[in-house]
Amino acid sequence: MRVLVTGGAGMLGKTLVEQLSQKHQVSYTTHHTPVKSTSAKAIECDLTRPNLNLADFEAVVHTAAMTNVDQCQEHPEQAYQANVMATRNIAASVAGAHIVYISTDFVFDGVKGNYSEEDKPSPLSVYGRTKLEGENEVPGDGCIIRTSIYGLGSDPQRPGMVEKVIFRLRKGEAVNGFTDQLFTPVSTRNLALFIEEILARRLGGIFNIGSSQSYTKYEFIRTAAQIFGFDPKAVKPGLSSSANYRAPRPRDASLDTTKAQKNFNTKVWDLKKSFETIKFEWEARQY
Ligand SMILES: NC(=O)c1ccc[n+]([C@@H]2O[C@H](COP(=O)([O-])OP(=O)(O)OC[C@H]3O[C@@H](n4cnc5c(N)ncnc54)[C@H](OP(=O)(O)O)[C@@H]3O)[C@@H](O)[C@H]2O)c1
Repeated sequence: MRVLVTGGAGMLGKTLVEQLSQKHQVSYTTHHTPVKSTSAKAIECDLTRPNLNLADFEAVVHTAAMTNVDQCQEHPEQAYQANVMATRNIAASVAGAHIVYISTDFVFDGVKGNYSEEDKPSPLSVYGRTKLEGENEVPGDGCIIRTSIYGLGSDPQRPGMVEKVIFRLRKGEAVNGFTDQLFTPVSTRNLALFIEEILARRLGGIFNIGSSQSYTKYEFIRTAAQIFGFDPKAVKPGLSSSANYRAPRPRDASLDTTKAQKNFNTKVWDLKKSFETIKFEWEARQY
């Protein structure tokens, strides 16, 4: 299949390009990140510009987005362009391609938690609102994945949450894990396998994809520390109010993943397996 991954230089996009290239003819878009030589073909483009040339693709996995939640809050027009207009431009530029849109658990306000695909979104932040508006640009036969992801950043200059924690623990610094924020995360490697299945079966509709149980950020970071060989006691319980975020965060953004568990052959990995996979890849990078 001829597949385009938008945001191929991003955290999820890079992993997806690697995974999908094993079976498909993959191209990917980059915007500000310089093109590196890979077996997949890179296309430099700003997706917020109309008249994209995407008619040749049979499937588009749209990961590109403005993902910094606080920056979205400060620059709502930029967030609208990157998260809504880019999705509209993609939908208008494909010729019947299957679109898979990566959305977020931040479409929910986090009051109730354990949100199913049927629950009504109510985003708290500009990021959540623009990602939800992006969902509405996806054609009816497209697939929308609501998720929360973690994995290695696409390069050492853009570390993911887990690497930031490991860098600090390695320097002997204590790390705070919030006990008042819950989520159901899935690793990018694991999510790439779900997306591979979505493409193979041309699945449409909304799917929550994440861990089968919810974790506080504290539990999550503690487990990461343990698997990476650090003393988990170096991770201290804290409250999100200490972070001085510019954009509000949902308290309990956990997703009910029953529908995905019933509909997919792919299974979600537990934290141990996910962190072990990340550790293996991290050690191979040698930094
Ligand atoms: N990270 C999370 O915790 C999380 C949680 C839930 C859902 N998600 C969703 O998952 C997806 C992937 O997230 P991620 O963290 O992997 O993203 P990321 O690392 O921030 O990468 C996003 C990519 O989008 C590209 N991009 C942004 N604006 C663009 C534009 N106007 N034109 C073309 N490309 C543009 C950037 O390309 P360049 O680098 O080339 O500029 C960037 O590499 C996003 O849709 C996000 O909303 C993420």
